[in-house]
Amino acid sequence: MKVIRVPEKITKLLKAARNKGRHIGFVPTMGALHQGHSSLITQAKKENDLVVVSIFVNPVQFGPREDLNSYPRPLKNDLWLCRKHKVDIVFLPESKNMYPEGFTTFVSVEKLSNLLCGATRPGHFRGVTTVVAKLLNIVGPDVLYLGQKDAQQAVIIKRMVSDLNFPVKVRVLPTVRQKDGLALSSRNAYLNAAQKLDALVLFKALSLAKILINHGQQDATRIISRIKELINKKKQACIDYIAIVDLEKLQGIKKIDRDCMICLAVKIGKTRLIDNLVVKYG
Ligand code: PAJ
Repeated sequence: MKVIRVPEKITKLLKAARNKGRHIGFVPTMGALHQGHSSLITQAKKENDLVVVSIFVNPVQFGPREDLNSYPRPLKNDLWLCRKHKVDIVFLPESKNMYPEGFTTFVSVEKLSNLLCGATRPGHFRGVTTVVAKLLNIVGPDVLYLGQKDAQQAVIIKRMVSDLNFPVKVRVLPTVRQKDGLALSSRNAYLNAAQKLDALVLFKALSLAKILINHGQQDATRIISRIKELINKKKQACIDYIAIVDLEKLQGIKKIDRDCMICLAVKIGKTRLIDNLVVKYG
């Protein structure tokens, strides 16, 4: 496994691989790798000749009062995991190489970036799309692997790829959960034992919404107020948003008469967690 830190080096190496006809899969991450990341890497290994994983805690997607400095960085363990998965190349850039002095170009997907998480995290998705655009240009993969866990991020990146003609196929893979339903996330590491129990309410709420829809409830407002009630029973839980939206434009749906996604963001103590569930109609 090669670990490469300099963007120009990896671009050169991968250009040579592409010229030899190698099919390249790419998994961008911020590290603190868990089984959610592993599932993307495993799938990428199955479908490509060469797999690149990037590990970069991207400063421009964090707000001024967010957890950039405390974000977990267990690099040794991450590299061990990549080796175990037979990742071919780990791209480990430094901030100064990704954002050198004078950097001033950003990629912004309008409208979609201001909804849901974008409303409480202004500038977050602009930071995500900027770094992903840069990574796609640096790596030049055939396939980009993303997780459904960050559903809005996946919708926005797909939009960017399509709008800006990036020559890459985007694959979005299912959310990996613990047995008890909690979606794996690098941020779960911030939770203490009591908070971990309270955090189970996210998936419980999503599951309740799904049951209500499957039993014929079509009124989104009613469903949302039922799950609000459930979440508010947890002392440490503070709801950021709960929404039932369509799958592409992420617009709120009032009457559920098509496929939809229930998505939510809830703070458990100081830790903001997100989750979602897609519900097929009929
Ligand atoms: P990060 O949170 O490290 O996630 C990297 C990828 O793993 C994302 O596509 C995310 O959706 C996926 N992922 C995380 N938890 C998952 C789970 N439980 N099941 C399935 N997939 C999961 O998302 C980012 O990093 C960054 O914003 C990034 C795209 C790398 C840009 O900086």
